[in-house]
Amino acid sequence: MIRKLIFILPIVLATSCTYYNEEELYPNETCDTTNISYTNDVLPVFQESCYACHYNNTTYGNLDLSNFVHIQRVVDNGNLLRNIKHEQGGTAMPQGAAKLPDCTILKIEQWINLGIPNN
Ligand code: HEC
Repeated sequence: MIRKLIFILPIVLATSCTYYNEEELYPNETCDTTNISYTNDVLPVFQESCYACHYNNTTYGNLDLSNFVHIQRVVDNGNLLRNIKHEQGGTAMPQGAAKLPDCTILKIEQWINLGIPNN
């Protein structure tokens, strides 16, 4: 059992390090912002990183991120991008967690530029 773990552990570590380095070194080559879709690119991020505080009965900042009227509001007031980019004047989101990956932020920004299509 232990011998198996000793064998597997370095492989797991090496794989995660390689992945991390690629993301850091080649952000543009690995980030495809064409054919952005709400269902594939944005909704999973909201569900995983935001819905705990911005969905249904838990709507901090009076924000329900499953409601397009609400989403439009924070697009218009600039807070959606400002907060996920951790820019000055905003409240860093997701609150109390790591910043979203650069590529995820680029995709959400592109979705906003496209006019937040519900596709
Ligand atoms: C742990 C809870 C928590 C999580 C997770 C979280 N938020 Fe928030 N969010 C808050 C709170 C609390 C506020 C109100 C902060 C304030 O008013 O200063 C807020 C406010 C906001 C606002 C401003 C609302 C407005 O009316 O301008 C935006 C935009 C926002 N969050 C986006 C997000 C996004 C996008 C995510 C996921 C990437 C996220 N938040 C994840 C707690 C959270």
